[in-house]
Amino acid sequence: MPKQYVLFGRPVPRLGSRHVSLLLVAISIFAVVSLLFTLPGTDVAGRSSKSLKSHWASSIYHFKQPSHAPERQSNDTYGDSSWYSNFRWLSMPFSSSVTLDHNRQVLPVMHKRPAIYCYYDNTLVKDDKKLRESESDLLLAWRRAWWAQGFKPVILSAAEAANNPRYGELTKREGMDPALLADFMRWLAWENMGGGLLASHLVFPMAPYNDPMLAFLRRGEFPALTMWKDLGDGLFVGPTAEVTAAIKLAMASPHLKIAKDFLTTLSSDTNEKIFTVDEHANSLAYYQPSTRETKYTKVAEAMTTSSASGVQDLTQLIESHLHLTWQSFFPDGIDVVKPLPHHTTHLISPAYQLALRLTRCPATPMPKSCPPNIAQCTPCDDETRRLRISTPAHYRNTSTVYTIGTVPHPYTAASLANPRTHIDVRWVRRDSGGRDPWVVDLTQDLCARGVSAGPRLLRFKEAVASDLGAAHSLWLLAERDLPDDLDWHFGFAVPDDDEPDEAADRPKTTPPKLPPMHDPKDGPQPTAEELSLEQALLARAQAIVGAGDGEGKQSKSRTSREDAVVRDAVEAWNLADVEAWRFTRAVLARRTVERKTWDEAESKFAGGMGSERKGRRNGWNRWLD
Ligand SMILES: *[C@@H]1O[C@H](CO)[C@@H](O)[C@H](O)[C@H]1NC(C)=O
Ligand SMILES: *[C@@H]1O[C@H](CO)[C@@H](O)[C@H](O)[C@H]1NC(C)=O
Repeated sequence: MPKQYVLFGRPVPRLGSRHVSLLLVAISIFAVVSLLFTLPGTDVAGRSSKSLKSHWASSIYHFKQPSHAPERQSNDTYGDSSWYSNFRWLSMPFSSSVTLDHNRQVLPVMHKRPAIYCYYDNTLVKDDKKLRESESDLLLAWRRAWWAQGFKPVILSAAEAANNPRYGELTKREGMDPALLADFMRWLAWENMGGGLLASHLVFPMAPYNDPMLAFLRRGEFPALTMWKDLGDGLFVGPTAEVTAAIKLAMASPHLKIAKDFLTTLSSDTNEKIFTVDEHANSLAYYQPSTRETKYTKVAEAMTTSSASGVQDLTQLIESHLHLTWQSFFPDGIDVVKPLPHHTTHLISPAYQLALRLTRCPATPMPKSCPPNIAQCTPCDDETRRLRISTPAHYRNTSTVYTIGTVPHPYTAASLANPRTHIDVRWVRRDSGGRDPWVVDLTQDLCARGVSAGPRLLRFKEAVASDLGAAHSLWLLAERDLPDDLDWHFGFAVPDDDEPDEAADRPKTTPPKLPPMHDPKDGPQPTAEELSLEQALLARAQAIVGAGDGEGKQSKSRTSREDAVVRDAVEAWNLADVEAWRFTRAVLARRTVERKTWDEAESKFAGGMGSERKGRRNGWNRWLD
């Protein structure tokens, strides 16, 4: 009797000759088709959907399947994720096809942050502890605002000026006004750093990220020594050689004994020869004394009565303007996206709380005031004019909306979607429905129905990590706490809690307000019972997903082997969803590393006070010691 073959537990029917020829035809058709699809240069994309054309297909040929994992780069690991920065990050939907490691994500190459220097002589306010604290808060606001706009803010002190060989020459001059001497120190410190950007600590960027002037400054290449009419001595940019030339001329000036600042040591026609003067700098706000006296009288008065509380008021005013300007970029409000909306109300709750904080009116000593560079702004008013928050199921690519996304691990999404089922491997394979439900639902408005998960994933990655996307959205992980450096991401101190007065009276055990329900056309709304079940399921999923890595909320021992097996099965079934999650995790991790590295480097440089020790409002005491 002929042998009975078994495939996948079923007997394979014996093949007659007709079957065999059919099989051969099928195999040859498959061979020809796959040959066509892998020939270099073939335009596969032309025949399939448009978005597929954009990246995926064309790239298959550029990013040949590597036989070795790409080289490791410096500082490419944090916690449980690692990454590989490459210009072709959008050419493959799945990073592991490049890195050969499913935990190593391909991310865009980071822009180099140009240093922006600010000279601050901490010895001048030594005696007044309160004043030094308030000045330090102001410097923190300055650093945060420039960091968020893609710069590397660096505070220079007398130490950098003293490093300049010209310093000895300067101290030999006699009869110089102390103010002029201080201004000279500023220039010497700048020259010592090799030129670039020199700003006053009262100059703040107040424009969207892609503003042309900010983009110009970010490029960090300055052919000529330049200043702006609007800003006076608030901002200079230029190459070292020209900075040196200016200092030499100023030091040789006959007016050294009478001049009060660097610019007046030079006669106006020398000034013209040295400086290129640009007209307007509408993207920058300069809170110089004359502006304070005309526009912010209340703050100016406070500064004359008590410097410390006056500086505090000024800092609060500036922070409120930064926040207000940020709000004005998004007139259509904030979208807290909620894909798979039936069971994700608790899941998006932290993102919703953040949105509430962002839409609050900032505390300010002068509620109806506008930033100095924006004559007409819409003042914030908590009663009538709060930014709108919506919870749509799908991501909208609109420049007038800020998006906060919460990316769940597919295990979390699966356990929430099926509140009454115990999920096991069999269920994952047979009953869990379509693959990658989260990414598919999120990108419904971006991609036509029927587009596969690969191109969708690329659109998602673009929304998370491209320059445009990152300026218009923030993506969080559902299983982790909010990052603690959000202030640095936004560039201003995000208000602590929504409705602080209410929060003070409220007993601590009251849970935060849940997001409002989604539009019924996006899916059925949960009942009260479903909502309470959701909370328990979410906590369980967070423990199981978090357990796979060093930073999870629960320790490894809490997860049973069985849970881990199911989690791995869900990951294998939802490759795009898990890729989206890992990508988001890597983007967040790299941001943290970038900021921490800079913070450490700078704290060494500025006297050794690490700012991380101070928690949320960190860094204020660095210049006190
Ligand atoms: C959003 O729209 C802009 C231009 O309108 C486009 O360049 C960008 O690729 C879009 N982003 C996504 C994620 O689709
Ligand atoms: C990597 O991190 C270390 C310290 O964390 C830092 O000293 C070093 O400069 C960083 N390297 C790069 C290339 O950023």
